Amino acid sequence: MKNDTDGGRGVPEVVESLLAGLPPDRKNLIFFLHEVQRELGYFSEEVVLQAAHYFSVSPAEIFGILTFYSAFKLNQSCVHQIKVCQGTACHVRGSEAIVKEFSRLLGLKPGEFDSRIGVSLEVVNCLGCCAIGPVVVVDGKYYARVNIKEVEKIVAGLTTGENSHESAEV
Ligand code: FES
Repeated sequence: MKNDTDGGRGVPEVVESLLAGLPPDRKNLIFFLHEVQRELGYFSEEVVLQAAHYFSVSPAEIFGILTFYSAFKLNQSCVHQIKVCQGTACHVRGSEAIVKEFSRLLGLKPGEFDSRIGVSLEVVNCLGCCAIGPVVVVDGKYYARVNIKEVEKIVAGLTTGENSHESAEV
């Protein structure tokens, strides 16, 4: 593992050299991410945005991969991933309004990554826990029966590091 630079090269140059000769095909994305992890040791927002542009995927999607697999390490500028379930049961219980409130408070649309505070917002299909919908998942932690007022608490918790809303083990 190397650190911020590789032999005097900056992160963008390291990433560019890894991308050189690699077709911008989505099927190469995971391979590329493993190469970045090996070369740089972590993922910064800058790398996520560079990769998203190259592979024509959303930053939120890359962020989702990076947080799902423990092999990947994010630096402190990429710390929060919000997923709002838009499956049928959650939709019927008002998840669309939940998404809109997150968008309003965070200033980003679903599928976007907020470069200022390191937050991604995604809408996802049924998470398999319909009975507790609307369901929101923040950094892998499940929040049950979320309403509009609680969205504000969750967003506030992102900046304080504390989320007071009841979470559920699923
Ligand atoms: S529809 Fe949201 S958990 Fe199933």
